[in-house]
Amino acid sequence: MRRSGKSKAEVEKETGSTIGAYDASFDVYKGEIFVIIGLSGSGKSTILRGINGLNELTEGKVYLGNDLVSEMPIKQLRAVRRRKIGMVFQHFGLLPHRTVLDNIAFGLEIEGVPVADRKKKAEETLPEVGLEGQGHKLITELSGGMKQRVGLARALATEQEILLMDEPFSALDALIRRDMQNLFLSIQGEAKRTVVFVTHDLDEALTLGHRVAIMKDGEIVQLGTPEYILREPANEYVERFVEGVDYAKVRLAESVMVKAKEVAYTNEGPTVVLRRMRQAGLSHIFVLDNERRLVGLCEAEEVARLAERDKRELRDAVDEAPKVGRRTPLREVLPLFVGDGEAPVAVVGGGERLEGLIVRGALIAGLTTSVEPHDEETEDFSGVDTDEDGDRVRVRRAGE
Ligand SMILES: Nc1ncnc2c1ncn2[C@@H]1O[C@H](COP(=O)(O)OP(=O)(O)OP(=O)(O)O)[C@@H](O)[C@H]1O
Ligand SMILES: [Mg+2]
Repeated sequence: MRRSGKSKAEVEKETGSTIGAYDASFDVYKGEIFVIIGLSGSGKSTILRGINGLNELTEGKVYLGNDLVSEMPIKQLRAVRRRKIGMVFQHFGLLPHRTVLDNIAFGLEIEGVPVADRKKKAEETLPEVGLEGQGHKLITELSGGMKQRVGLARALATEQEILLMDEPFSALDALIRRDMQNLFLSIQGEAKRTVVFVTHDLDEALTLGHRVAIMKDGEIVQLGTPEYILREPANEYVERFVEGVDYAKVRLAESVMVKAKEVAYTNEGPTVVLRRMRQAGLSHIFVLDNERRLVGLCEAEEVARLAERDKRELRDAVDEAPKVGRRTPLREVLPLFVGDGEAPVAVVGGGERLEGLIVRGALIAGLTTSVEPHDEETEDFSGVDTDEDGDRVRVRRAGE
């Protein structure tokens, strides 16, 4: 019915059956992070689960290299899932009453790795995800972010070369989420697994994806590099999806903020503060009152001058701090970097409490996309029209 032109909604109305995914063909290259993005119900999980055979296909094929995964006998398919294709779910399916180490080792257990080896491997993975010394803890004792790390570690500990990740970070708040994305990217940078990553967060898709497929109603409406998708939205749907992803406008302060390494308090003396700044290698430090409300910003030189003059109070070194809210667009953050731009900008929340800070380098990185659109890097999902100058002007779906 879909092929004869009926929409997903019409098919559903007439038959009571849903089209999970339709005509959604794509290749994933070795070592690539391939992102599938789309609104809720667009078919992302359906496809992901089709790749490793958790969803049986009614039509179409899935190849792993030359092997036809979609037609493997179940025994062979299970072996492929154990050894080659790992899956990370949104809530990771951790075993709550087992320890962190046992949970990490669990993936290996399924792979059939002997006890001693999997213990060792699990131990080795702990520091990679920042859980050193936490191996003995029970899952119930961990924060959300720590659980997420355990889940990631579990997937990373295995030797599976392909990882299917279904919204692995979506339960996390923006800050931890960015930490996890960075962690994932740095580990992936070394491991070079092939990853199919599902998300409904555009920022996440553009940050992580080498290529991104945008889905709507079970179909892929565009596929290409982040740059390509932003520059050449295939149709109105994609356009609306990426609408105004002018980073300066759409990206918010929280997307580039980091936690303050150190802060100073109004009741502290210059010598103490200076020492802390030196230890942390800071040129500036934010000053808070006892309730963590932002009071101002100190520069190391000024603090040192007070310390030399044996002043007891920090007050004379405190300048007004440039500050924004979490949801302030980057466009409005940029002008706050004045002069040499070394001073950070504070991100404050309710009651002027310091939530984080932005340094200029991170801001610039957040404002620019690094990828230049070369033809090799852009993949046209189906057809591309060009105008007289050879510029791409429109992308068509096959058959249109
Ligand atoms: N087990 C199921 N039985 C019937 N219909 C299903 C089942 N799983 C998914 N669907 C339907 O298939 C379509 C695609 O769902 P899918 O779970 O793939 O979406 P999704 O893009 O992963 O959404 P989300 O972002 O909410 O996870 C939806 O219309 C959904 O209602
Ligand atoms: Mg889903």
